[in-house]
Amino acid sequence: MLSQDTIAQCVVLAVAPGYDARMSDSPVGTIEIRQESEGDAAAIWRVQEQAFSEEDEAKVVDMLRASDSIVLSLVAVAAGRVVGHVLFSPVTVESSPPDSLWVALGPIGVLPDHQGRGIGSLLVREGLVQCQLQGCDGVVLLGDPAYYGRFGFVPASDCGLTCVYGGGPAFQAIGLRQGALGQVTGVVSFAPEFDAFAPDEEQA
Ligand SMILES: CC(C)(COP(=O)(O)OP(=O)(O)OC[C@H]1O[C@@H](n2cnc3c(N)ncnc32)[C@H](O)[C@@H]1OP(=O)(O)O)[C@@H](O)C(=O)NCCC(=O)NCCS
Repeated sequence: MLSQDTIAQCVVLAVAPGYDARMSDSPVGTIEIRQESEGDAAAIWRVQEQAFSEEDEAKVVDMLRASDSIVLSLVAVAAGRVVGHVLFSPVTVESSPPDSLWVALGPIGVLPDHQGRGIGSLLVREGLVQCQLQGCDGVVLLGDPAYYGRFGFVPASDCGLTCVYGGGPAFQAIGLRQGALGQVTGVVSFAPEFDAFAPDEEQA
């Protein structure tokens, strides 16, 4: 496990001292962020399906679970109900140090009637912290830079990384260990479960 000193130097923890994402007050009451546990699968499916108004993301989650390709899966719980979910799965980076571990964030979804109240942010921040504690070197994703920039994600192309699915500026990265971003370059490939649902080259 990383020492507290090492953790403190890393980019990800742009979080106020004393901040605890695992149990936070929000306009929808107390939100608990916890690891997915047995029995959450149906609720997670519902969250992803409703968040995206389609089943693709929910299917990817089930496929990654079935192939044991999940590094981290967190749920947000409000009043005993799963209202948000984020998943992290391993990626391969064309050129990276041996034994380095990079992961992809996504899918992430919050039930429509709970969006815009900070739950997605709690999931991202706690996910990054947990990935760091698990020894991940960095995280990539395809998403809106206006949203993910606030967590410290930068355009992956700035670091010499490209996504096998394209994505342009939507492809972003964050290092979880000092210097990690400078040690990787080339094409990043997601878990094969994503291939069937790959975004269009043009999609942001
Ligand atoms: C994206 C999502 C997970 C964010 O969760 P959330 O709980 O609504 O987000 P938060 O309350 O933490 O943050 C709200 C901010 O995110 C912005 N935001 C929400 N969804 C966004 C999106 N898809 N793209 C860009 N910005 C988005 C809001 O405009 C708001 O911005 P502001 O703080 O400047 O006002 C959620 O809105 C969702 O499930 N959307 C549908 C599924 C989706 O698009 N997933 C992400 C694909 S990369």
